[in-house]
Amino acid sequence: SEFETILVEQKGAVTLVTLNRPKALNALNSQVLGELQQAFAAYDADDSQRCLVLTGSDKAFAAGADIKEMQDQSFADMYRSNFFAGWEQVTATRKPWIAAVAGYALGGGCEVAMMADFIIAADSAKFGQPEIKLGVTPGMGGSQRLTHAIGKAKAMHMCLTGEMMGAEEALSSGLVAKVVPADTMLEEALKTAETIAGMAPLAAMANKEMVNAAYEMTLAEGINFERRLFHGLFGTHDQKEGMTAFVEKRPGNWTGK
Ligand code: HXC
Repeated sequence: SEFETILVEQKGAVTLVTLNRPKALNALNSQVLGELQQAFAAYDADDSQRCLVLTGSDKAFAAGADIKEMQDQSFADMYRSNFFAGWEQVTATRKPWIAAVAGYALGGGCEVAMMADFIIAADSAKFGQPEIKLGVTPGMGGSQRLTHAIGKAKAMHMCLTGEMMGAEEALSSGLVAKVVPADTMLEEALKTAETIAGMAPLAAMANKEMVNAAYEMTLAEGINFERRLFHGLFGTHDQKEGMTAFVEKRPGNWTGK
């Protein structure tokens, strides 16, 4: 592979991206970000790929942004380089992607998992925003996405104490979509990704775009946005195909057009 810190494999229509800095518990440095930007952009551009799974190791999805890389940076360095702004390129991915989390998802690791469309967690998963213990705060969206996901009380508690949240509580709090045994977690995530990959591609993008709009718009604006996008799909071949296939009691044969 052309990458050093991640592994990228295509499994049919599903792209599997594995964070691969085991000695640093997959700490996210600039090289990881650069490689993820390339891998996600390639996925988004490749019509043969219809869902992506981002995962780590059994021990750590990612133990955070790379502390050793940040340690000596000044305000001027951080501000000038707009440190972490490059993650917005990953969140701009228009096609669906899932975070498959086992072990530690701390700091930037938790934040990257929350950038996904949803999280599937192993029962070993531990989420946390321990930045306060380093004298800082989340910097890749954690204070915002965590609060949206689990509400102020739990998000504030996690950010102020740095305590981790286990998989079961993450499930009941709405942080993750599903918890599965660690030894089948990746298999489950890939199966879910295959299900999504089997849907009409434009409908998958549109569903993702409108759910995300709920975070950006008022209810009235969001409902209008949804309806217009829904109307727009009636200009696609796959809407005709999907509804015809239902009536003919057969699976849809999607063209992505
Ligand atoms: C750089 C890291 C790292 C990190 C672990 N390592 N996390 N290196 N950045 N975020 C390295 C360790 O230094 C060590 O390298 C190796 O990975 C193994 O880690 P250990 O600590 O020896 O493992 P263990 O005892 O099992 O403890 C696991 C752990 C602990 C509980 C996850 O590593 C930990 O607390 N990590 C930091 C978690 C954290 O604070 N994350 C937030 C980062 S800040 P060596 O070379 O010593 O063997 C962040 C927010 C960014 O993400 C936004 C604001 C700035």
